[in-house]
Amino acid sequence: MTNRLFLTAAATVFAVAGLLGAAAPATPVGTKGAAGAGDPLLPLSGDGGLHVRHYALQLAYQPKTQHLDGSAVLSATATQDLSGFDLDLSGLDVHRVTVDGQVVAFDRAGPKLEITLDRPVTDGSDFTVAVDYGGTPHPVVDADGTSDGWTALPGDQGAFVAGEPQGAMTWFPCDGHPTDKSTYDVTVTVPQGYTAVSNGVLRTQHTAAGRSTFRWHESAPMAAYLATASVGRFDVREYWSRRLPVYTAVDPAEKADADGVLDQLPAVISWESSLFGPYPFDSAGAIVVHDKAIGYALETQTRPLYDEAPDLDTLVHETAHQWFGDSVTITQWKDIWLNEGFATYAEWMWDAAHGGASPHARLAQLYARPATDQLWSYPPGDPGQLARLFGVPSYARGAMALQELREAVGDQAFFGILKRWTAEHRYGHGTTAQFAALSASVSGKNLDPLFATWLYSAGKPTKM
Ligand code: ARG
Ligand code: ZN
Repeated sequence: MTNRLFLTAAATVFAVAGLLGAAAPATPVGTKGAAGAGDPLLPLSGDGGLHVRHYALQLAYQPKTQHLDGSAVLSATATQDLSGFDLDLSGLDVHRVTVDGQVVAFDRAGPKLEITLDRPVTDGSDFTVAVDYGGTPHPVVDADGTSDGWTALPGDQGAFVAGEPQGAMTWFPCDGHPTDKSTYDVTVTVPQGYTAVSNGVLRTQHTAAGRSTFRWHESAPMAAYLATASVGRFDVREYWSRRLPVYTAVDPAEKADADGVLDQLPAVISWESSLFGPYPFDSAGAIVVHDKAIGYALETQTRPLYDEAPDLDTLVHETAHQWFGDSVTITQWKDIWLNEGFATYAEWMWDAAHGGASPHARLAQLYARPATDQLWSYPPGDPGQLARLFGVPSYARGAMALQELREAVGDQAFFGILKRWTAEHRYGHGTTAQFAALSASVSGKNLDPLFATWLYSAGKPTKM
């Protein structure tokens, strides 16, 4: 009786205080995490209010029916008091969501799985989200007309699973923006005869009752877009190169073209290590499918993914991304030149070291292109539109900016900058502003005009 009276009185006080606009709840209930990491080019990608430390994914895929069943366990930490949060998830049916073992309410809206908490999670505390889901995954079509995400290959060949920039959400619930990096355990069950290849080290593999299960572990932090779980009837090769386990999986139709190039992988890794610093990961390899209609390769962490047998330049490019993109990751998509410009510049250096044109000559050749050329269609430091992310300027003009930098500061400072960049941001993130600041501090030069011209000026820059 007394209690109820007291509660009524308390409620009245709150109601009155509310009317006066001064109500403060007695206990923090938290607010919902923002529905995106705030990237202007992909506003919905990523999730505010939490950091995912680790993903444990258990998947089963049927190439014939293209059906995927999944269970995802996310070990997360709240970065604010949370009353709920969103995860990225596109398509697929969600059967059940639990948070710390308690079933919670969820909703679907666009590319989001919206989760409401019964009890708030407080800022800084760890919690576990488990999602049971399944269905037929569909890739997302990007603004440039390419698609990414879980892509079933023609017939019952398997699947090409690439997530840049937003396809991770097509196969697992995630914090899909590159600002969040996590470790991964990915276990995939496929019909016997198929191999499922993910990132990192293959922990176990077993076959029983016509099904094969592959357990992969990635121990270095990884952005969701770099995760893969590609499936095929691959020809697998496993070997050690110095202390590095190498695992390559190649569609038999690409084997004749791929093998000679993939044989160069250890040599490419050690050559790049001499320029960029120690190889950042504890495994390496490649996945080669047979579907060039996909039209691109992706630097999936430790194990780049190719739509067809790569040429040597492409191998050099995707391997360079292991430092630039995978270990050192961008925080905003507009900084994409930090990935693509650097990986392209690695190709230039490789070619020069193997009898091809010098980077200086390539810079001059490209500079000779008319002002109407695509090369000058946007400044690489600020693509402005999602459709431009993987356009020519991000790659070629990004590489030109690096050659301009090299010519301005000299080889010693230039290679010092590259090594410090990969060392200081290893397993983390880097921004263009940080790269410019590092370049200035290593070289002792004012490089603002150089970066303004090569990264940020619209149209063809006038030679300085
Ligand atoms: N980062 C990849 C590369 O240059 C390109 C990925 C393109 N993605 C896409 N959806 N088109 O190696
Ligand atoms: Zn690239």
